[in-house]
Amino acid sequence: MGSITCDRVSELKAFDDTKAGVKGLVDAGITTIPQIFIQDHHTKHKFDDKPICRDPKISIPMIDLQRIHKDSSLRSQVIDQIRSACEEWGFFQVINHGIPTSILDQAIDGIRRFFEQDVEVKQKYYSRDYSKKIKYCSNLNLYSAPTLFWKDTLSCVMDRHFSNPEDLPEACREIMITYNNLMWKTGGTLFELLSKALGLDPNYLKDIGCVEEMTIGNSYYPECPQPELSIGIATHSDPGFVTVLIQDQIGGLQVFHEDQWFDIAPVPGALVVNLGYMMQLITNDKFKSAYHRVFSNKEGSRISIESFFMNNSCSRRYGPIKELLSEVNPPLYPEITLKDIYNNQSLKNNELSALDKLKLASHSG
Ligand code: OGA
Ligand code: NI
Repeated sequence: MGSITCDRVSELKAFDDTKAGVKGLVDAGITTIPQIFIQDHHTKHKFDDKPICRDPKISIPMIDLQRIHKDSSLRSQVIDQIRSACEEWGFFQVINHGIPTSILDQAIDGIRRFFEQDVEVKQKYYSRDYSKKIKYCSNLNLYSAPTLFWKDTLSCVMDRHFSNPEDLPEACREIMITYNNLMWKTGGTLFELLSKALGLDPNYLKDIGCVEEMTIGNSYYPECPQPELSIGIATHSDPGFVTVLIQDQIGGLQVFHEDQWFDIAPVPGALVVNLGYMMQLITNDKFKSAYHRVFSNKEGSRISIESFFMNNSCSRRYGPIKELLSEVNPPLYPEITLKDIYNNQSLKNNELSALDKLKLASHSG
């Protein structure tokens, strides 16, 4: 990372003060990207230069949830598929999940309306205040991040029954309420299947609070005049339990698996499901969370919507699930809170992951 000079800080502040995000730069007609967005090799992740697998036959598992509520043998096949996907990839896609494709498309359209409306309307939501439930921002960690992302975000902490709909931006209000209602339902089904895949009672994960809080991250990745110099979102794993993602047709999302990167090509109507650090921790490494990243591109703006199921309450502690432990499978982690994960997420990409740092001393190294 370049040293934090006055120049850099004032450049960051000038960018922040526009309250127009990365899209504002593109709208202004830039043809070269500002220095603060240029990736340098010091900030690269240790896996960033690993090969990209271009074999179109290999990709994250696709799992069909059709009729699982009616046919118990189909249901147990699906549970087996989910178990393998979580053990091997930490990522899978689902179709026939209960959210109509037309709703997914409308959600993407609604988010596009939000980001592409008059900047004056959007600016009212611009904030870096962590306590705000609904906020539009670019690079939440702008002043501390070693690497800036070519990305703007509208993040919304959602309740199961969203009690203040008027707090949502008008451009996407109605569809977000619909999408939110359906996502809680589909999320509930996914956590039941994940519980069963772990050999637990179907309500187990729900009962320990995995489906109590959800934040929806709405991401807008503007087209970039120099995509090879920037990154949409750098290599990372998600902190919470499960993330459910939809993306438009542009592409650019990749997952790291068995020492290679794999494209997650857009599939109309599908939901991409991935596990976060918390899920890996409570399953004592039976299920994996996987690194992923998004490239920026020249062709057009990309939209994705992430529903992060996590438990933000700072006091709630989670450790490996007792029922999964035995003499031959002792706990690898102490009991921690989500905050411990955030605090251990390194800003230096070549260091250990948050989970590796939290591993009990007897199992590390
Ligand atoms: C994230 C993420 C991927 C995408 O927001 O954590 O990984 O496709 N997003 O936008
Ligand atoms: Ni992610």
